[in-house]
Order: sequence, then C-alpha cells, then structure tokens
Amino acid sequence: MPFSHQPFSEVDFRDIQGLVRYGHGHLEEASFYLLRIADAAAARAWLAKASITTAASGHPPDMALQVAFTHEGLKALGVPADILQGFSDEFIVGMAGDESRSRRLGDVGQNDPSRWKWGQVGTVPHMIVMLYAKPNELAGREAELKKDSWLTAFTELYPLHTKNIGDTEPFGFKDGISQPVIDWERTKPERLHDTLDYTNVAALGEFLLGYPNEYTRYTDRPLIDEKEDPDRILPLAEDKPGKRDFGRNGTYIVVRDLSQDVPAFWRYVDAQTNHDPVARQKLAHAMVGRTMKGDPIVRIRPEPIEGISTDPETVWENQFTFENDPEGTACPFGAHIRRANPRNADLPADARRLWRRIVRMLGFGSRGSRDDLLSSTRFHRILRRGREFGPPICVKDILGGDSRGGTASQVSKADLGAERGLRFICINANISRQFEFIQTAWMENPKFDGLDERDPLTGARGALAGIATNSFSVPQDNGPAKRIAGLTDFVTVRGGAYFFMPSISALRYICRIS
Ligand code: HEM
Repeated sequence: MPFSHQPFSEVDFRDIQGLVRYGHGHLEEASFYLLRIADAAAARAWLAKASITTAASGHPPDMALQVAFTHEGLKALGVPADILQGFSDEFIVGMAGDESRSRRLGDVGQNDPSRWKWGQVGTVPHMIVMLYAKPNELAGREAELKKDSWLTAFTELYPLHTKNIGDTEPFGFKDGISQPVIDWERTKPERLHDTLDYTNVAALGEFLLGYPNEYTRYTDRPLIDEKEDPDRILPLAEDKPGKRDFGRNGTYIVVRDLSQDVPAFWRYVDAQTNHDPVARQKLAHAMVGRTMKGDPIVRIRPEPIEGISTDPETVWENQFTFENDPEGTACPFGAHIRRANPRNADLPADARRLWRRIVRMLGFGSRGSRDDLLSSTRFHRILRRGREFGPPICVKDILGGDSRGGTASQVSKADLGAERGLRFICINANISRQFEFIQTAWMENPKFDGLDERDPLTGARGALAGIATNSFSVPQDNGPAKRIAGLTDFVTVRGGAYFFMPSISALRYICRIS
C-alpha cells in the first residue's frame, strides 16, 4: 500500500548493519566465511555474543563484522514458519534453486550451478560471516571470531578470501565509482508519476526493508503480530498498524563469486586491434564505458544532476547521462556501464515540453525504437560492495611491451595462471526488481537495446535460438557499427547465493528463539 503522510520516524543507524551505509574501504583486508549451521542453539549463542558492526556514525571502526543468512539458514536457526514465509519468492527459492532463473541469470554452460564450488543444491550456505580488518590484522581478528561456540555451531563450507588490489578490479579498471546516493533523511519528494530527469538519489526503501521504495510502497517482508514479540524487540511496521517488522532495517545481499580470466580478456582485445596498443586500449574502454582511470568515455553533462556530487574532485567521474550520445558513438549501447545503468529517467528528455510529454505518454512520437527499449533506471539500482581476490596482474604482465595503463608489474610467471576475480556483492531491498533485473534484462539479455549480444565483460557466450551472442558492436560516426566477434567467457560464475542481512533487532529476536 502507498505510505501515509504522517511524519516518518528517523532512521536508527544503530539498528542497521554497517555494510549498508559504509563499504568499509579503510579496512583493506577482508574474508567472508560461508557456513552451515551444525548446532542451532550454539549458533544463536555465538550470534548473541558477536559484535556486529552497525551503521551508526562516529570514529571509523578498527574492524567490522557483518552477518547474513540464506532462507535455508534462517530455517536451520529455528526461525518460525510465519516469518520464513514472509520473505520474497526469489530469496526463498535461492539463486540456483530454479532452472529458469539460472537461464535468465546467464548461469548456463560453464556458469551452470552444477559446476559451482558452492551455492548449488546441496552446497547452499546457511550463513555468511563477513570480516573486515586493517592491514595485517585479519588473522588475529579471525582467531577472535572463531572462539567460543563457533566450532560447535558451524561447519565451514567454503572460504571466500579477498585481496586488496587498490581501487581497480582485476582487468585493471578503476572500480567502485558509481553508486546510488541513499535518501537517508527521507526528504526525497514523493513522485507519483513520471520522472523526467535521471537522478542518482534513491529512496531508502530501495536498500532497506521497512521504508517506502521508489514506487512509494513498502516492499513485502515478514511482519508478525505484536503478541509474537512480547518483549517488543522488533520495531513497529510503519505501514501496518499492530504489526512488528522483522524486515525493517534489514536487506538482501546478493553474493556472486566471479572468476575473471584477465589474460584471455587482454589477449582477445589485443588480437582484435592488431596488437596496436592505442587501439587496444580504446576498445577495452569501449567495452567498459570508462577508461582504465575511471573517466566516462561519453561527454560529461555540464549542468549538475540531482544527487550527484558537485565536489570538483569526483564530479567528472559521475556527472553524466547518455542523453548526449543517442547513437552510441561515444559510448557503445552494449558497454558494461551503459547496460548496468542506462542513466535514463521515466520519460526521455525530449518529453519535457507538455505537448511532447502527452504525446509520448500516449505512446506516440518516439525518436526511435530505442526510446522504449529501456526501463527507467530509478527502479533498478544496486549498492555494490564487492571485493577482489587473487594476485594482481597488469596488461604488461600478459602482453609485454607497451602496456598502456597497467599498474606496475608485480606478478610472477606462476601467478599469471592463478585464479582471480571479484567476490561480487550487492545490496538491494528487492532482488528480483533490482539485481535480477539488471542481470537478466540488461546485462545478460541478448536483445538489450536491439543488440544481439550480451555484456562484453560478464556475459555468458552461448548462442540463443541458434543466433550467436558473442559479439560486441561499436557504433561509428561515419557508417555502420563495427562488430567484433568471438568474445569468450572472460568471467565465470563459481558460486552464489541470496542472503538476508537482518537488522540488529531482528538478530536479537532470532537469538531469543528457544
Ligand atoms: C567480474 C565482473 C565485473 C567486473 C570486472 C565489473 C567491472 C565494472 C567496472 C570497471 C565498472 C565501472 C566503475 C564503476 O562505476 O564502479 C562497473 C560498474 C558497474 N557494474 Fe560492474 N563489473 C562486474 C560485474 C558486475 C555485475 C555482476 C553487476 C550487476 C549485476 C555489475 C553492475 C555494475 C553497475 C551497476 C555499475 C555502475 C554503472 C553506473 O552507474 O555507471 N557489475 N563494473
């Protein structure tokens, strides 16, 4: 139901796990533990003692600890059935629990869950424990973590170690630049109808349960009768009088273990450009949509965009839309960042004038077929919180000679073939409308924007109905788009799961279960 107009309660940051607000970037070391619950009472005892990091501001913490559970995990902890039923379908079924979901996510061929190291039926973790520490302090923190009831409570399924390789991801591109700005103060105007401008500010309810989302509605979540919470541990539901909100201040996190074949990526790009270092770099930039240093390759918009920083240090990185590039000649339509966030509003920009707007709302007057191919961005944003793993490597290590843009070579021959990649993590309140939409309708969709191809970095390369999807089109100013073919699997999925990251009060509620 739409939210009422009564004054909203303030956000209690002490009830929210810190990862929603902070990426813990100053804590350069991190390790994530995928666990099965062996003894529910011991697990609850461990949780009751664990110092979970909250989103309250103050001095940046010396370490951070976050926890989240799969649906199976909540069940194993003894969470009552009426709460379990209140979660979203995709969370209940799980990332790998349904063949059609796997197909839509691109988890086919070498990404097929049957090949995963963890997360397929039979190896779905119950819980993820995320530990962040300062340099050289991770081992000590891990020893502290594994004290008390840990050994009785859990069996370790798979460790997800990470490696700080600076502010780049393994292919060598600056990462973590574009993130939505969360409307923590809840001041974003209610938008009942169309939004004409791209905005980077997202309603709180897009990233936390229990608050209105971009549709001005509350996402479904587990609510319980007040009598089931006699100690009043859980907050009241804002939208349902008399109900306690198990979901409020909690959220979903999506974890995808992505292995990156960095040598294959650079060798491919090198071969496509006849070993010309300048052309090679240009093609790689086109595939990402940004230069390796992080600059967008599309012309930057001169006027400010709501919710995007006006800080001169960062403004050039994120102050743009694709409005100035309707033909994709500056940034190809299929570039990774143009797929992952097309930066468009509910109606295209030329609909500003009333008459144009009415005509467009009736479905006429389109400038071209592309106008109607992309859904508005504001309903499909995610907060990315991933970390890299594996030894760093740069273009020079792979191709030798003029590397153009690689960091200093630090890799031994043995490390060249080592596994590396991204422990992709994103936060969203609605997995199907946010992460799954981006992944399936934009990144993995071979018909995205009228193309016959998938995301040039992450896409699965299998043909669709006999039509190859392993190409990448680069529109040209003077003539038809240049199409390069034969892209291979630069990224392979090794595991994944959907987790619920509860609020601190929901954790307390769980710990009281007997
Ligand atoms: C190994 C796999 C991946 C690599 C190497 C990669 C790399 C990058 C890079 C270099 C950027 C540009 C820098 C930035 O804005 O932070 C970026 C942006 C982004 N990526 Fe990925 N990415 C990967 C997987 C994914 C996946 C699986 C998703 C979601 C389903 C995703 C969603 C996004 C989004 C939403 C942006 C920001 C777009 C914008 O707002 O401009 N990425 N990625």
